[in-house]
Amino acid sequence: MTSTGFTKHAQDGMARSGVITTPRGEIRTPAFMPVGTAATVKAMMPESVASTGADILLGNTYHLMLRPTAERVAKLGGLHKFMNWDKPILTDSGGFQVMSLAGLRKLTERGVTFKSHIDGSKHEITPERSMEIQELLGSDIVMCFDECPALPADRARIAESMRLSMRWAKRSREAFGDRPGHMLFGIQQGGLEQDFRQESAEALREIGFDGYAVGGLAVGEGQEAMFSTLDFATDMLPEDKPRYLMGVGKPDDIVGAVARGIDVMDCVLPSRSGRTGQVFTRMGVLNIKNARHMDDPRPLDENCSCPACQNYSRAYLHHVFRSQEIISSMLLTWHNLQYYQDIMAGMREAIAAGRFTQWQADFHAGRAQGDI
Ligand code: GUN
Ligand code: ZN
Repeated sequence: MTSTGFTKHAQDGMARSGVITTPRGEIRTPAFMPVGTAATVKAMMPESVASTGADILLGNTYHLMLRPTAERVAKLGGLHKFMNWDKPILTDSGGFQVMSLAGLRKLTERGVTFKSHIDGSKHEITPERSMEIQELLGSDIVMCFDECPALPADRARIAESMRLSMRWAKRSREAFGDRPGHMLFGIQQGGLEQDFRQESAEALREIGFDGYAVGGLAVGEGQEAMFSTLDFATDMLPEDKPRYLMGVGKPDDIVGAVARGIDVMDCVLPSRSGRTGQVFTRMGVLNIKNARHMDDPRPLDENCSCPACQNYSRAYLHHVFRSQEIISSMLLTWHNLQYYQDIMAGMREAIAAGRFTQWQADFHAGRAQGDI
């Protein structure tokens, strides 16, 4: 009942398919986690998110500790009950968000102090406090507290930051303790440098985690550099544990990451783009704001099962977007999340059937069709 684990069912090249088991349900991998930063996947009801095929959501320590606070969520029965999502939740540990969102921050060996982006109030996160917050939230998959420099950065800065993250990983492991039914993931750092990625992987394996994330990518290095880093970084992580690429990405980033041995990903892109009118389809990306959709009776994507595609024309979606109607965010987010989950389901099936190479070729060919 309290057991967690990872079972690999199939491998095709470097790509793997399998299942992460938690007491709150199974996570089919490769998995994409929609982002529910502030205890909601913006513009979506939780049951709608589940209907797209999502097995797990991501929540954020940084946002939830500031508002409504972890203690309040705990008192109200935990994050699952609070937001009405009973499947697994993974929470990020806060350091990465402090670095990108908070005002005035100070990094020391102990942790990071910062000013809230909401009201300027002062806060501190240490590895120990991050573990405490994630436990109060009731997270199923807890992330180590880490730090990550923006790229480009010089080698000395990357090494120093990675080594601090590894010391924090050890403290995170110790503070997390033994919590049956919950998993703790380590986070590999080291920028684009092979030797630092290796050192980081060895430090994490020595400590021992339930899963291993690749952090510090998708921070401005570009797809080619990210893929070349994944070409060596993924293989350094234990083969029998889930591997999670944090904060990635566009549909072709996700496919390329799975091809390089990644099992889990998350990104705000499908949900955020849904609110800005950017739509991902099997044929490529379109922007619903564009006037050429004004008279178009066709759905966004002929092959999509989502309510936006089943019940509405591009002309209608263009109209509600231009009119800033709330249903626009709802429908476009739903469609984008459905498309992402369809990609994941397609990859899982193809890997299991040993035809992932062909699936990848079809995926890229579909997107090369041009005018959509
Ligand atoms: N999200 C995207 N990249 C990272 C990372 O390197 N660390 C953490 N904690 N979260 C991330
Ligand atoms: Zn759709």
